[in-house]
Amino acid sequence: MNNFEFKNPTKIIFGKDTIAQLKNEIPADAKVLLLYGGGSIKKNGIYNQVKTALTNVDVTEFGGIPANPDYDTLMKALKIIKTENVSYLLAVGGGSVIDGTKFLAAAALYEGHEPWTILKDNIRTEKGMPFGTVLTLPATGSEMNSGAVITRAERKEKFAMGGPGLFPQFSILDPTVIKSIPQRQLANGLADAFTHVLEQYMTYPIDAKLQDRFAESILQTLIEIAPTILKEKFDYKAASNFMWSCTMALNGLIQKGVPTDWAIHAMGHELTALYGIDHARTLAIITESHYNYNFEDKKEKLAQYGERVWGITEGNIDDKAYAAIKKTTVFFKSLDIDTKLSDYTDDYEGTAEEIAKRFTNRGWLGLGEHQSLAPEKVEKIVKMAY
Ligand code: NZQ
Ligand code: ZN
Repeated sequence: MNNFEFKNPTKIIFGKDTIAQLKNEIPADAKVLLLYGGGSIKKNGIYNQVKTALTNVDVTEFGGIPANPDYDTLMKALKIIKTENVSYLLAVGGGSVIDGTKFLAAAALYEGHEPWTILKDNIRTEKGMPFGTVLTLPATGSEMNSGAVITRAERKEKFAMGGPGLFPQFSILDPTVIKSIPQRQLANGLADAFTHVLEQYMTYPIDAKLQDRFAESILQTLIEIAPTILKEKFDYKAASNFMWSCTMALNGLIQKGVPTDWAIHAMGHELTALYGIDHARTLAIITESHYNYNFEDKKEKLAQYGERVWGITEGNIDDKAYAAIKKTTVFFKSLDIDTKLSDYTDDYEGTAEEIAKRFTNRGWLGLGEHQSLAPEKVEKIVKMAY
């Protein structure tokens, strides 16, 4: 096992009717900016619950943060933070609203000239403005980690950022919020969390037995609950398992002491930046070709995953590993998620070359657990995903 440090300061408040506890978490003298997305919280009652909990708190609001939170929109919120002397941020939403809030927490205290630098140069945020979250969509794990991904739609760019100053102080996870989530977003949440685990697991064995079994148990849980989550009828038991699995998939725990990949996400972000494809769906597009291309490097873990998660017992390591890749694609399809770029756009010619060029220009010359995926290899993987 590799050496590691682990600190996760986010307080989780989990369960039914927990949104009311907001009032215990926000300092009484705070000047709060409540941030939300396109308005789903006004239709499903979450907004009212939040406002009731904040009755005696000084709150200003900023709505309209789009999916794949956009830099130019967020800059308008930054202006409000500065002019209204906001001291505390509250994100009520999914990964996009929470990530947008993290960017604002960093930008509000950033002393450099232009906040875009935080993204362009991936400047680590050691101290951000304090913030909390009310999660409305299980998927990204953003509610209990210190990373964010911000889009600059106008330039078709999407960049990651983060740092120890960007953990939420608290996150409220009430699984009943899942009732109002559309099927497409539920499927996205399942696929995103599933791929988060894969990115931290599908590398090479280093005898990290506990981390492997944590990872496998999250994958097994997601597979088990997926059909119930996608049914019309809301099921609280499945919803709570779904919500906690998504958080555990990317709160730092399972990646401690083990190699991680994250190349699927790096390529996927470019597909969102170029075509606006939902984040989770870009991962489903890349996964199969990434694993086929890097088969020799990953086959031992692929076979272990095949055996332990999918119960594949037939054949040698290669057979099990190939069968495991197939099972993964079938799982994405069972969520009604297409797995080829051409399923999403007719205009895909040149995409692989464009992504390889962007990675070269950024100096991203070696992705993956071996830092060996040079842009020309990325180009091949993306082409295989057409
Ligand atoms: O905007 P509103 O009206 O709130 O509607 C949202 C949005 O349209 C809707 N929704 C959310 N909760 C709902 C709901 N609709 C009904 N009922 C509810 N309870 O769902 C839509 C999608 O929301 P969004 O927040 O965009 O989804 P998600 O949570 O999947 O976040 C995706 C973003 O997170 C980034 C992605 O790149 C993408 O930008 N990620 C962040 C990560 C992190 N911070 O650790 C890791 C991930 O790998 C990912 O990259
Ligand atoms: Zn993701």
